[in-house]
Amino acid sequence: MKLDVLLGLQWGDEGKGKAVDFLTPHYDVIARFQGGPNAGHTLEFHGSKHILHTIPSGIFHPDKINIIGNGVVIDPVIFRKEVDGLLARSTDLKNLYISRKANLILPTHRHLDAAAEAAKGVSKIGSTLKGIGPAYMDKTGRNGLRVGDVHSPDFNARYQQLRNKHLNLLKQFNYVADFEQEEKLWFEAIDLLRTFTVIDSEYVVNQYIAEGKTILAEGAQGTLLDIDFGFYPFVTSSNTVCAGACTGLGVAPSYIGDVFGIVKAYCTRVGGGPFPTELFDETGDRMRTTGKEFGSTTGRPRRCGWLDLPALKYSIMLNGVTSLIMTKADVLSGFDTVKVCTHYKVDGKITDRIPFEINENIEPVYVEMKGWADNITDISSYDDLPTELKEYTSFIEKETGLSFNIISVSPDREKTIIK
Ligand code: GDP
Ligand code: IMO
Ligand code: MG
Repeated sequence: MKLDVLLGLQWGDEGKGKAVDFLTPHYDVIARFQGGPNAGHTLEFHGSKHILHTIPSGIFHPDKINIIGNGVVIDPVIFRKEVDGLLARSTDLKNLYISRKANLILPTHRHLDAAAEAAKGVSKIGSTLKGIGPAYMDKTGRNGLRVGDVHSPDFNARYQQLRNKHLNLLKQFNYVADFEQEEKLWFEAIDLLRTFTVIDSEYVVNQYIAEGKTILAEGAQGTLLDIDFGFYPFVTSSNTVCAGACTGLGVAPSYIGDVFGIVKAYCTRVGGGPFPTELFDETGDRMRTTGKEFGSTTGRPRRCGWLDLPALKYSIMLNGVTSLIMTKADVLSGFDTVKVCTHYKVDGKITDRIPFEINENIEPVYVEMKGWADNITDISSYDDLPTELKEYTSFIEKETGLSFNIISVSPDREKTIIK
């Protein structure tokens, strides 16, 4: 048996939450493997909407196991808010398991994030300021506190030690942090965390695979935000690519099965950094308004632009994608024409590769296609989709050599077409 992976092929917010929720009935286990509460995964069903940050998107299916893997960084305070929100909806959390090896985000990590961003000035990353970068820095710097540590008798002393190290760093930034209240809330949230089932998730996940249970690993962020392969330094601090599922869950590469790559019909990006196909005109504004492109975690307006094939092909290559999912084609309904960037022009040369230096010298080269007029949100069969949309998806399929097996036409769980 193999573990399937679902991940974003752009800059995040492709609709992973909806897709995982939709696919959950086909799996026994859903597992997050990287990132933390910088993620905001939106699920809509039965007329209500829910945003998850740390907890996997299979949580609304009570018979399924949901695992927060070792590669995830957890802010106990945000986790507690998520738990409260889920309990208010009478969601069953008894099958939610957390890896002992997942690292913790401290209140001072968030202040370090803010201090580092302020120090960068105009070249700031545009971080969600959830403390992700500093928490992963402590992990790789071998200073981190892990979920398994909360049961240790010297947990408080280790917390103080790390916090004091952070305070020294903050002093160097001339950053004054008043976080007494946050610290109190953090320890209350640690108490709640102690009531959850913590597991050696690498053993548990491998046992599930051996038993023939089906597992879907849920990515956060997107491939172009990957720490190694994203548009560095405007990236997040984890490996968002498929390989991250191996290290973030303790699964060998030979156990990876299907890799679902999710693609928005256009591109969005929130935060700073290069975005070759970004639109600064009314077309971009229309995508943002119609697509409700405002961050699920921070509420910030998302930058919008046309689909970027060189970037998409790069993401497909890095992840070994086996199957594509398209979301939000409904947002482009009514556009007379739609464009797809097929190549970049860099220093007068045409290329379909992502250059090392990604800057304003990149000029996208587009093909223009006829748009589709009809509202597609009530269409339930692929054959009934407008011809122009089918031509759009076929063009991308031909370019990538992969097929869109699922097409989402609205935020709602039910409004999903299987080809
Ligand atoms: P994620 O981070 O990848 O889970 O994506 P987000 O939840 O941050 O952002 C995706 C947004 O698009 C959410 O508001 C979803 O409810 C919404 N969405 C998902 N699929 C579709 C779709 O096919 N059409 C439309 N119009 N909205 C969608
Ligand atoms: P989901 O899982 C979109 C972006 C931030 C910023 C950069 C670094 O919902 O798709 P960080 O907080 O990690 O230090 O921010 O990455 N970013 C996301 N953009 N969706 C996300 O998650 C993101 N998580 C981080 O905006 O540009
Ligand atoms: Mg999101």
